[in-house]
Amino acid sequence: RVAYVNGSYVPHGEAAVHIEDRGYQFADGVYEVCEVRGGRLVDETRHMDRLERSLGELRIAMPMDRKPLGMVLRETVRRNRVRNGLVYLQVTRGVARRDHAFPKPGTPPALVVTAKSIDFAKNDANAAKGVKVISMPDNRWERVDIKSVGLLPNCIAKQAAREKGAYEAWLVDDDGFVTEGSSTNAWIITKDGALVTRFADNGILKGITRTTIFDLCKREGLRIEERKFTIEEAQNAREAFLSSATTIVMPIVEIDGRPVGNGAPGSIATDLRAKFHEVAE
Ligand code: PDD
Repeated sequence: RVAYVNGSYVPHGEAAVHIEDRGYQFADGVYEVCEVRGGRLVDETRHMDRLERSLGELRIAMPMDRKPLGMVLRETVRRNRVRNGLVYLQVTRGVARRDHAFPKPGTPPALVVTAKSIDFAKNDANAAKGVKVISMPDNRWERVDIKSVGLLPNCIAKQAAREKGAYEAWLVDDDGFVTEGSSTNAWIITKDGALVTRFADNGILKGITRTTIFDLCKREGLRIEERKFTIEEAQNAREAFLSSATTIVMPIVEIDGRPVGNGAPGSIATDLRAKFHEVAE
């Protein structure tokens, strides 16, 4: 395997960044994860748009123009012989002597890109069975709309899920409403067939998969309600599922030990999963 690090392709095992990289010291950086299908980047434009937005919110410069960046992503995918998997890219504010305040203007941002294959058959097997989620308090900061590499609360939540034999942790805000999963967006489907997912303000990451599911729902004539919902409403919903670039649409069959719907993967979620790549670009 090879990784792209600040201008060169290096063996993955030797790829390294400086100890004074602000990503390492302060989690001062952002990232993107883009699915690779048949060697192509899925929804590349939307991922680039979101990257630019995350960087802009933090006043970090784009490490290079979109076009060459796209070429680096594709080249990293090619060099790693990834047909189906993901490409990961991370931009940090760069290397500077440790000081909380931003380094002097002109300090170049640091760029790292990796790519790896994913066994989507295993993913499909999970989807066919459906997955379990648990709930956890959402104790993250108030700008999780920025795809920052500061993911410690997310890591702690995912670990708690693992230890309970669950696939994901759904994060619940102080008022008892689900925001999203530790690395996925959260959805339920009501008894009358409407898809419900939280509106995308500063309290969730606006998933690219989420946006493309909106497109798919429009095509399929499915109604979407962007609003908050509780764990209790989710447990009593017809279906529930989660979404992300690597899981696509993943049906949920159990929330905090209670079955969702009839305890089997829902038909609408399963159908959306099957059709997702017909609308993704
Ligand atoms: N996670 N919410 C959070 C907190 C996320 O980290 C992610 C993505 C999503 C879904 O976004 P998208 O549909 O654009 O993947 C929602 C990536 C996959 C990760 O951290 O690995």
